[in-house]
Parts: sequence; structure tokens; C-alpha cells
Amino acid sequence: MGYLTNKRILLGVTGGIAAYKSADLVRRLQDAGAGVRVAMTPAATEFITPLTMQALSGHPVHLDLLDPAAEAAMGHIELARWADLIIVAPATADFIARLANGEANDLLSTTCLASPSPLVLVPAMNQGMWRKESTLTNVATVQKRGVHILGPDSGSQACGDIGPGRMLEPSAIVDAVSGLFNTGVLNGRKVVITAGPTREAIDPVRYISNHSSGKMGYALADAAVEAGAETILVSGPTNLVANDRARLVPVTTADEMLAACMAELSGCALFIAAAAVCDYRPVEVPTQKIKKTAESMTLLLTRNPDIVATVARHPQRPITIGFAAETANLRQYASDKRLSKNLDAIIANDVSSPDIGFNSDHNQVVWIDASGAEQLPVLSKSQLARQLIAKMAGMIVP
Ligand code: PMT
Repeated sequence: MGYLTNKRILLGVTGGIAAYKSADLVRRLQDAGAGVRVAMTPAATEFITPLTMQALSGHPVHLDLLDPAAEAAMGHIELARWADLIIVAPATADFIARLANGEANDLLSTTCLASPSPLVLVPAMNQGMWRKESTLTNVATVQKRGVHILGPDSGSQACGDIGPGRMLEPSAIVDAVSGLFNTGVLNGRKVVITAGPTREAIDPVRYISNHSSGKMGYALADAAVEAGAETILVSGPTNLVANDRARLVPVTTADEMLAACMAELSGCALFIAAAAVCDYRPVEVPTQKIKKTAESMTLLLTRNPDIVATVARHPQRPITIGFAAETANLRQYASDKRLSKNLDAIIANDVSSPDIGFNSDHNQVVWIDASGAEQLPVLSKSQLARQLIAKMAGMIVP
């Protein structure tokens, strides 16, 4: 498998003489396993034709923000979401300046601004332009915002000057961007993740459930896919769209979730229970809607099976990780759950604050395993999922 297997990379090309190297970069990214799409600024098309980039990437090149036909096929916002990573190579002084100013006046700059994914700039320009304080300030500005800068190289330039400003060679770019991914830590591994709530019927129109949105479990599935795993997402009802490179197994009840998980255990290296499973379900579920006649009613509930504990008891158990959603005594309750459910690690999740935990895009957790506890900072669920997957992958015996 290549270093960039399963990765989706948007290659942005801006108007500099080094644009001819972008053609080679497309091939090398593909050789490393990535799917590549190309966006070009108008100036870039003066240096290399969109037809060349289309032939190499196998997809139409994105050129114009105001082209209704191209936007209908894959609009710039969709493109921004599609990309796991954006590389702009070459990145001219002008493009870096526009990015530093937050401008969105062509398709490429707009896509960069709209995308939540990491952005890599590979500067290429005359050495005098590179050395100018304005350029260096713009580079520092975008770097401070988390943009990665690769290069430039130093040496003889197309204009005859000698100095810094040459675009890095495509092979060096591929090596550097491979390092940005958690790539390969779960290559060839099967990972099963539970996500979302379960619903337990009271009657044909009512149910018991909880506030889980599924965001944490779906982010873990994204991170597992990113790390190269064969990913199975066993999900209760949510409004989310699953990663199209994960296999979604939709379920409703705890019983269904248990059956789906047990059916997927063969060959599973890592089991992650992020779902908020209803602990109880009504003992009897009438086939007709319960009529509102009595002033009060009592529901008799029975315990649901414990899915993660059942997996952890299996003779061929995978590395088994649970979450603990708590509103008090976070570490103590979570540690107790880890031991009672026989888990390799548990992720203690304070769900008393609306800014983290249920339904939020952010989360803050404590990782607890046999060696102790580690508090992680508040992170987006995507960032947190990447960190957690890296930790969990480290627990799998090679
Ligand atoms: O879905 P989001 O809105 O993004 O919110 C994320 C989350 C808060 C739901 C998630 O981060 C989380 O904490 N999930 C676990 C919720 C939970 O049910 O915790 P618990 O302490 O009740 O259960 C402990 C562990 O046992 C969990 O791994 C749970 O999946 C598992 N369990 C619980 C009951 C049961 N019958 N079977 C189980 O497998």
C-alpha cells in the first residue's frame, strides 16, 4: 500500500514557471495511493494547460468560481469538503499574500478558505521576492494560522538568479505530506466502531433514547479510515453521513447493535464503543399505540445487554475501548467501568457541559488505561479522534 492510500488531495496550481513540476507531482501523489483533483488559478493556465492536468488526474480541472456547469458537477464547497488535504504547488507570492489577507477572489483561494482540511503551501518565486519583508510577513501570518510551508529550495532559478525560491521537488513534497497523515498505523486492520444512540420502543410511535448525535463515533470512523483501517461503523439513528470508505451497519436497538457487533468480530483488531446505548428497554412493547387515558403510567424496564463488555469477554477479543459518559466523579466512575467491563482503555467524557460531549463539535476527555490517566485538551471531535486512533493503534500487538 502507498503512503497516501485512501487520501483525497486537492492540488492547487498558481501562476509560476514551476507549474510544470505540478504535472509530475500529480503522478507521484497517485503513485503513493492518493486520489488527486486539480484546481488552477487563471495565471496558472498560462504556464501549463488544464488539459494536461485533466489527463494526468483523470478528472476535469476546477478553474472558475462562476462556471455553472463545473459548479453543478462538483462545486467549490463540495471540493473543499472532499479534500483531506490541499497542496498549493507552486504557491506564488501573490497567492500567499491573498491567502494572508483572507481573500477569496478566485476558485482556488475560495476553496482554501472554505476547507476545514490541512493546507500545504509550496512557495516558488524569484529569490528577491521571497526575501522581501512583505512576503516573509505573509508567510509567517499563514503559518501562525496552521498552514504548512514546504521549502523553498535554494539554487539557480529560471530567471538566472541564484538563491532561495525554487519549488521543492515533487518527491520531497510527497514525502513531507505523507508525514502529515497518521497514514498506515491501521493499514490492514479491521476496526469496528459503535456510534450514536439506540432507540428502545415503548409502543409503535414512542421510544426511549438519549442525546447522542453520533459525531464522536463518526469522527473516529473518519480517523480510522484515514489511518488505513477497514472500518465498520455500527450506528444507531443519527442525521450524519458516514464516511463513504467506511461500511455503515445501521441499527436501532441495543439488541440489534449487539448482534451487528458480534457478526463483525471475526478478524477485528480494534473495537471502539462510542455509542450511547440505552441501558434499559421496556419489558413489553404493545403492537398498538398506548392510549392517553390514565393520569399516570408506569413503564417496567429491563436491562439491555452490555455490548462492549460482551465483546471484551469474547475468547478472541480485539483491543477493546469504551467511553464513559459521566456528569460527576468522572475519573473514578470511568476507572471503575474500565475494570468492571474488562476494557483495555476507557475514554472518560464529561457530559455535564453543553460545549463538549453530547452533540457538540468539540470534546474533552481523559484517556484512562492500566498505566494511568491522561487529560487531553478541548479539541474538535475530528482532531480528538485522530489522537485517540493513534493511541489505540499503538495498543495493537504487531
Ligand atoms: O454522539 P455525540 O453527540 O458525539 O456524543 C459523544 C458521546 C458523549 C456519546 C461519546 O463520547 C460517549 O461518551 N459515548 C459513551 C456513552 C455511554 O453510553 O457511556 P456509558 O458510561 O453509559 O457506557 C460505558 C461504555 O459502555 C460505553 O463505551 C458504551 O458504548 C458501552 N455500553 C453501555 C451500555 C450498553 N448496554 N452497552 C455498551 O456497550
